[in-house]
Amino acid sequence: MIHRYYGLFCFSVLFVAIPTVYSCSEHNVIDAIFQNYNSRVRPVLQQNITLDIQYELRVYSIMSIDEPEEIIDLLLWTVLLWHDQFLTWNPEDFDGCTSIKVAADQIWSPDVYFINTLDVASISPTVAQYVSIFYNGSIRRALKYKAHLGCSMEINDFPFDTQNCPITVGLWTYNYSEAILNLRYPIVGLASYNGDPDFAPVMSNASEFEIVSYTGAEIMTTVGSQNYSELHYTIGLKRRPAYYVFVILIPSYMLTSLCIIGIFTPNSNINERNEKVSLGLMTLMSMTVILNIVADQMPKGSKGLPLLGIFVLYEIGICAIAIILSVIIIIIHQRSLSRGWKPPALCLWICRARVSKTARGMSQWISNLICSD
Ligand SMILES: *[C@@H]1O[C@H](CO)[C@@H](O)[C@H](O)[C@H]1NC(C)=O
Ligand SMILES: *[C@@H]1O[C@H](CO)[C@@H](O)[C@H](O)[C@H]1NC(C)=O
Ligand SMILES: *[C@@H]1O[C@H](CO)[C@@H](O)[C@H](O)[C@H]1NC(C)=O
Ligand SMILES: *[C@@H]1O[C@H](CO)[C@@H](O)[C@H](O)[C@H]1NC(C)=O
Ligand SMILES: *[C@@H]1O[C@H](CO)[C@@H](O)[C@H](O)[C@H]1NC(C)=O
Repeated sequence: MIHRYYGLFCFSVLFVAIPTVYSCSEHNVIDAIFQNYNSRVRPVLQQNITLDIQYELRVYSIMSIDEPEEIIDLLLWTVLLWHDQFLTWNPEDFDGCTSIKVAADQIWSPDVYFINTLDVASISPTVAQYVSIFYNGSIRRALKYKAHLGCSMEINDFPFDTQNCPITVGLWTYNYSEAILNLRYPIVGLASYNGDPDFAPVMSNASEFEIVSYTGAEIMTTVGSQNYSELHYTIGLKRRPAYYVFVILIPSYMLTSLCIIGIFTPNSNINERNEKVSLGLMTLMSMTVILNIVADQMPKGSKGLPLLGIFVLYEIGICAIAIILSVIIIIIHQRSLSRGWKPPALCLWICRARVSKTARGMSQWISNLICSD
């Protein structure tokens, strides 16, 4: 009987003992390190020590780009790393505990701020606002943001343009002698992975724009008598022009070709010649609609018309000239029939051209067109 109880006792001791011996006691760690902790104090032991903050900014994806308003929406992932000199412990005193996680509002956090954004919203759910604390005091905080950025668009080369959008990150109240922002990865170009396989500044690459460059710089700015630390990132975005080529460039080119070919259709009858003008006007209207589509995409500043707009405008001009020519031909043709007008000398010259043997085919063809009646 005693023997059996003894066995049960041993069994239960094993069960209780294993977890307590081999796992870390976060409870004890938190009790110990937060005993005299004040989350309102910059976490340095002496006031003259500057706190170094490592900052990493990743562009998770481009959500939208509004060219007329010159606004770009990005989904950003950020990682902040700093050293809290009050939150340290010796892992040997706490069952080998090397890291714990606590709610972010329990500890001091730097007031890192997106300076040039119009609006920024943290989209990390509140339950996920936790930070990791390592035994040596290193703290890691990760956040996800939706940033609404102003970005001045250079549209002269549209749709073959590249835009450079800045993102400025800074500390709002702590000055340069109190806290400094450092780039966690000194970014020179997209290809500079700095030996770290985890480094991917741009994570999604499937939108109208392709990210072709990404740079970051550590800057000290002076506001009034105080110096502040800032990080200046620049994202280079190159447009993928396929959509505009297939939806605007090729159709408008075909319409203009149609308009020009339409003029040269030979007809034998007075009424049918009017069809040329209708065809031209229809084309002209379609072109205006296309120009409107291009114009709607563009900021309406003083920057002039983009490349694609100029192209469409030229095509409209060509088409208009073609229509005017058709109308003149119709007028001359009809007057020469009904009122016995003599066609202008140039027309007659073309009609009767027997210039040379080489030009004969060409002039014959043109005179057939114009003088077909
Ligand atoms: C900070 O000030 C203390 C004295 O208050 C001095 O011993 C220490 O060297 C100073 N540290 C720096 C980095 O200036
Ligand atoms: C603290 O420990 C972590 C994890 O081992 C390490 O990544 C970090 O560099 C350490 N920080 C310092 C200041 O030693
Ligand atoms: C994005 O995709 C293009 C091809 O579609 C590729 O050439 C480029 O390197 C990609 N950029 C990144 C940052 O992955
Ligand atoms: C930062 O602020 C402190 C106190 O307000 C001031 O003594 C120090 O000169 C400032 N440093 C810089 C770099 O502006
Ligand atoms: C701010 O930076 C400038 C230029 O480096 C320096 O001359 C000035 O003393 C700094 N201001 C403070 C308050 O440290």
